[in-house]
Amino acid sequence: MKKILITGACGFIGSHLTEMMIEKGYNVVAFDRYNSNNDYGWLNNSKYKKHIEFELGDIRDFDSVYKVMKKVKTVFHLAALIGIPYSYLSPLAYIKTNVEGTYNVLESSKILNLENVIITSTSETYGSAMYTPMDEEHRLFGQSPYAASKISADQVSLSYYNSFDTPIKLVRPFNVYGPRQSTRAIIPTIICQLLRNSSKIYLGNLNTSRDYTYVSDTCEAFFQIYKSKKLIGEVINVGTNTKFTIKEIVNIITSEMNLSPKIITDKKRVRPVKSEVQKLQCDNNKLKNNTQWIQKNTFKRGITKTIKWFLKNKNFFDFRSYHV
Ligand SMILES: NC(=O)c1ccc[n+]([C@@H]2O[C@H](COP(=O)([O-])OP(=O)(O)OC[C@H]3O[C@@H](n4cnc5c(N)ncnc54)[C@H](O)[C@@H]3O)[C@@H](O)[C@H]2O)c1
Repeated sequence: MKKILITGACGFIGSHLTEMMIEKGYNVVAFDRYNSNNDYGWLNNSKYKKHIEFELGDIRDFDSVYKVMKKVKTVFHLAALIGIPYSYLSPLAYIKTNVEGTYNVLESSKILNLENVIITSTSETYGSAMYTPMDEEHRLFGQSPYAASKISADQVSLSYYNSFDTPIKLVRPFNVYGPRQSTRAIIPTIICQLLRNSSKIYLGNLNTSRDYTYVSDTCEAFFQIYKSKKLIGEVINVGTNTKFTIKEIVNIITSEMNLSPKIITDKKRVRPVKSEVQKLQCDNNKLKNNTQWIQKNTFKRGITKTIKWFLKNKNFFDFRSYHV
């Protein structure tokens, strides 16, 4: 059975990808940040826990990355700091984790002759849409330290392909949502705030729009890209070619939950003007034309599943507290 490595495996997307790859018959080495409690994040309660080979270390630390990468010929690199608000507070943490962390994966891949190096980018690298839908030729623009760190990591990755023939593939997901997502993200915060108090919700700018993909569809795109030989050295968008504003999302969730809350603006949720990415909408033709990927979950179907999951897993979240 083929062994693969997933970095950031205990997080939101990584945990779903780990379980999906096990279901597809792979042995998974799950790498995530070292902690003294042997906490495996979202994989703590996975039904596949005993089939997973856990390795805790630090993506910023070359030694631990190089050591774990000796075990495999394929890596899915997802470990990253992802929150935009925290990137305003600590840009250097993003440079160290996202840029240097990706360098550690690339340099190890080069030395160890890895065969398949899948690097995770983000649609935030494009900045606000100059046109929609946005293909891979859209210009890159760092509107937040998070976006800037991912642009840098992407460019270092492409340079490894151009300079050393390292077989990288740059997966660029637009927004992802679903079970296990952090309650700081927009869809979980709306659901969780409503579960706490159904009469009001605190939100930022209601008019920004994004392209949302249900997490299992994103993971399937990772798999399809992994299998493709044509996509080595390429950037591949992953999204649905649709977009929803936050206001529209609130309407979809509240009608599904049968609630009509008052929306209150929380200034802490509003990004600085020049940093606000107004609109992102994916052009997924490259993914569709080069792989067998199809979107299985419409936005409404994914939202229904996500609400159900949060209702069933209330015990994982502290509904009394509200954070940005
Ligand atoms: N969630 C989205 O909407 C979205 C959209 C586009 C791209 N992405 C990208 O997908 C990837 C996964 O994102 P996610 O949403 O699952 O985030 P997440 O925060 O749930 O997962 C990130 C994982 O990386 C781990 N990590 C962080 N610092 C580390 C370190 N120093 N050493 C080892 N592990 C470390 C975390 O512990 C966590 O398990 C990221 O690269 C992110 O940029 C996410």
